[in-house]
Amino acid sequence: MIITYFDPHPKTSKEDFFDREREVKELGSANVPLIMVLGTRRIGKTSLIRVFFNETHTPHLFIDCRRFSSTSAKIEDFVNILSSSLEKLSRRHKKLLKMLSKVRGVNVFGVEMEIDPKNAKTSLIDLFHELDEWSAEEGKHTYLVFDEAQNLRFYRRAHGISFNEVFGYIYDNLRNLRIVLTGSEVGLLEEFVGIENPVSPLYGRYMKEIYLKPFTRETSVDFLRLGFQQAGMKVKESLLEKAVDVLDGITGWLVYFGKTCLDLKEVDETAITSTLKVASTMVESELQVLSKWSERYIHILKVIAMGATGWSEIKEGVEFLEKQEITDASITRLLERLEKMGFIEKLTTREGKILYRIVDPVVQHVVRGR
Ligand SMILES: Nc1ncnc2c1ncn2[C@@H]1O[C@H](COP(=O)(O)OP(=O)(O)OP(=O)(O)O)[C@@H](O)[C@H]1O
Ligand SMILES: [Mg+2]
Repeated sequence: MIITYFDPHPKTSKEDFFDREREVKELGSANVPLIMVLGTRRIGKTSLIRVFFNETHTPHLFIDCRRFSSTSAKIEDFVNILSSSLEKLSRRHKKLLKMLSKVRGVNVFGVEMEIDPKNAKTSLIDLFHELDEWSAEEGKHTYLVFDEAQNLRFYRRAHGISFNEVFGYIYDNLRNLRIVLTGSEVGLLEEFVGIENPVSPLYGRYMKEIYLKPFTRETSVDFLRLGFQQAGMKVKESLLEKAVDVLDGITGWLVYFGKTCLDLKEVDETAITSTLKVASTMVESELQVLSKWSERYIHILKVIAMGATGWSEIKEGVEFLEKQEITDASITRLLERLEKMGFIEKLTTREGKILYRIVDPVVQHVVRGR
């Protein structure tokens, strides 16, 4: 049998995509103009979206915003990606191509199309109007998917296109379009969207948030067991438990571990170590970004990784590390930010006490060693 669960690419078919029925259903039944798919890195956001659109054949445009960065976010890059995804959609729907050819600044040659980057701003809105009209005629919604959408923020600074203005316009005027945004850097995405910022064009708009949580311990072990079964490999239950001890329920790390074993042709403890190493490098670079904002983020994470769970305990720990008193407001604000960015989560005990924990065991591992 060909590998399925341990295929390292984002999944596209339901058969390869373990669990997550609830989240797929949530995406399908979200009857709102704006949907956010949130969750920590490597948890399965892109897979969820790809599986949903692939299985339901819902019309959509998929824009991978990882291709835009602070140093390379040219209008040309955006219009190229947009036009190739429009081409893909109109290959299935010839009428759409004809409708789009009416838009000023959009040239259609056979099945190929080109958007003139000089008038991108006005062409974009006109183009979305045509797409909306086409969707209405088809009696469907067309979804505009922006994967890792927080990177769209680079456009404002460099090129004066404010995507949240475009989204605000679509939200208010184009009833047959829906916007789906995903982000690993949860806080960054929310800040970019500006849902809580009164001057943002999207302020106060109702939207649906879908959170992808890590698998539970039991689900993680099941996932690994089934993955090895698919590959026809025998594996000791104790080793699966050990892998989950270290990698927890972050699907991407479990897949990396599984794939490493498939390549080694044996299920071996060294695969856990090498997965942890790769994952740590990725986490390390994220923590570097975080520490540039404030070293205190790292101190908080470190104190939690060392075993502090309650608010006061965390505050005391950070004060001890920094050898100075810190205001309550500062700790609260940074904890909130860390939670929004998906680094930590809050749990409430039966007695009503709030506890904090680090979501990703790899983050825990890295901050301990810092
Ligand atoms: N439910 C699942 N079943 C099987 N494999 C999964 C599942 N969820 C995620 N994966 C696998 O985990 C890895 C990460 O998934 P994906 O790229 O979809 O996550 P992501 O949250 O978009 O990650 P990133 O933060 O890197 O963008 C991929 O190898 C994917 O195949
Ligand atoms: Mg992704």
